[in-house]
Order: sequence, then C-alpha cells, then structure tokens
Amino acid sequence: MTVYTGYLAIHQFEKELERELEIRGLIVAHKKERFYLVEGEHPQLIWAQVTGHKMEFLPISSINDGVKKLKALGRNWGLFTVAHHRRAELIQLELPKIKKTPIPFRHPLPTLPMGLWTLWEKDLILCTQKTSSPFPLGEFDFEEDKVMPPSRAYLKLWEFFTLYAPEAIQGGVALDVGSCPGGWTWVLRTLEFDKVYSVDKAPLEKRIMDLGKIEFRKESAFGLDPKSFGEIDWFCSDIICYPERLLNLVKRFMEAGTVKNFVCTIKYQSETDWENTMKFLEIPNSKIVHLHHNKHEVTWFLKGSDR
Ligand SMILES: C[S@@+](CC[C@H](N)C(=O)[O-])C[C@H]1O[C@@H](n2cnc3c(N)ncnc32)[C@H](O)[C@@H]1O
Repeated sequence: MTVYTGYLAIHQFEKELERELEIRGLIVAHKKERFYLVEGEHPQLIWAQVTGHKMEFLPISSINDGVKKLKALGRNWGLFTVAHHRRAELIQLELPKIKKTPIPFRHPLPTLPMGLWTLWEKDLILCTQKTSSPFPLGEFDFEEDKVMPPSRAYLKLWEFFTLYAPEAIQGGVALDVGSCPGGWTWVLRTLEFDKVYSVDKAPLEKRIMDLGKIEFRKESAFGLDPKSFGEIDWFCSDIICYPERLLNLVKRFMEAGTVKNFVCTIKYQSETDWENTMKFLEIPNSKIVHLHHNKHEVTWFLKGSDR
C-alpha cells in the first residue's frame, strides 16, 4: 500500500511550502486546498503547519463507517477539510471531542497522539495518527498574560520554551538582543536565570527594567563583544534585521565558544530569504521551525544538549 507524507501549508505561506518542497526535491503527488501529498516517508517541513507521516487512504461506505474506522485507529483526530466539508464535519462530530482550552506557559504537552485526517473524496478518508504536533492541526493558544508583557512577541518565546525546550532552567545567564520593549526579557526574567542581559538601541519599558537581575545595554547588537558577557546559557534574538546579519552575529558568538543554546527569530522582508535560511540550517544539529506564533519569520535554534 502506498504511504504518503502530508503537509498542511500555513495559511498564506503556501508559496513558501512549495519552494521548500522544491528545494528538498520532493514531488507533490496530489494537492487539494493547502494540503500537499508526497509519496513515501519524508521529514517535517518548516512551512508545514502540521506534517502527517505515513498517511493512508481509507475507503468508507458511509459516515458511520468513517467514524468507526477512524475510532479504530486512534482517539484524537484533527480535521482539515479539503472537500465534502459538511460530510467531513458530520464524521468529526461523532469522534471524541478534543478540549481546545488555552494552556499555561510551559504546561506539559499532551501525551496522546494527535491524528490528522481529511475527507479526500466523498468515500475516501486520508488519515494518520503520526503527526508532528500534539495539538489538532498544530494549533493551540496560551492563557495570555495581559498585564506584564509590553508586546505580544513574548508568545513566540513562550511557545519555544514550552514545545522545544521544556527542561528546567536552574540559574545561569541569558542574553536577549533586540529586546525592546521587553517581552522576551520579561519571559527570560520569569524563568530561573540568575541574570538577563538585554540589548537594544531603544530603551526597555520601565516596569521590565524594575524586575531586577536585568543588565540593559543600550547599543547595537552587532557591535557586541561576546567576551564581555562571559558564559551564556541562552542567546536569544528577536532583532529586526536581514537574516545574513543575524547569521554573522550568531557565528561570531559561536566562534567565541561561550554560548550553550541559541534561539533566534529569522525575519524576512517581502520575500523569504532562502539562501540564508539554508545557511542557518547548515549549522550542525540546529533546527528551524515556524512557530504557531511566528508570522513571516521562522525560529532557528541550537541546543547544547543536541550538539
Ligand atoms: C520585534 S522587536 C523585539 C521585540 C522584543 N523581543 C519583545 O519581546 O518585546 C525588534 C527589536 O530589534 C531592535 N533592533 C533593531 N536593530 C538593532 C540593533 N542593531 N541592535 C539592537 N537591537 C536592534 C529594534 O530596536 C526592536 O526593538
């Protein structure tokens, strides 16, 4: 039986997913709406909101038959409809409900597999229980803090530390470059770092400065001397700049050999800079993801434990 890898493109970033498929030499066998199917087993892609591994077609004879067959394969199912929307929804309604309540920062991730399915044709389900996310279609929300963070950028770092670096932080030093008005610095301050260096040409909000254990440097990140910070546990960057400039900055800190972990937003102008994105990916053991809270930008990270 043919298995497929299914990629659900992020809304409005279909072009990015298509380019990524092309760069990786993956040929699209079928496509409906923003759902792309490639024959065989392939890795998760940056611009896929969710990746479905080992997807199979499952003929069904009725709505009830569809419900029965999906239930036999697993409990949790996220539906993305590409056709026969009403019929697909009727099947979904009979499947166990999935709570979509917002989660707190660093909440343990759901442990049960989260399936992905669609009604490809009237009597043909396409489905898998092996997906890239524990959340339906990779979508979830946080219980937001509407009081402290001065911008919504903090949600990206919340998502990163919840999904990709959930291990406890016990002391150490964080460096936040491009930190103004202070959302990321605030997140780092709420983690158990002993000290947070915060660097921007613009000032931090006073209420963030007042949290203490923060050393703010009002200067350009590109002129920083890595040695002036000593050992850094987490280098974090949300600077607005060309990806190439960020890459050079990251490389300079890597060469200094003082940084354990990196997490950086790679931001794009009108066009996605594939050349430099691929250069980031060439850094051994590093990864790039498009967080649910990223816009036209991606998150590159390198964890000391993966090196
Ligand atoms: C998207 S904002 C950062 C938001 C921040 N992470 C937060 O959570 O509040 C980007 C920041 O990059 C800063 N930036 C741009 N060029 C910079 C440079 N050369 N050095 C330091 N910061 C820079 C801007 O001043 C701006 O505050």
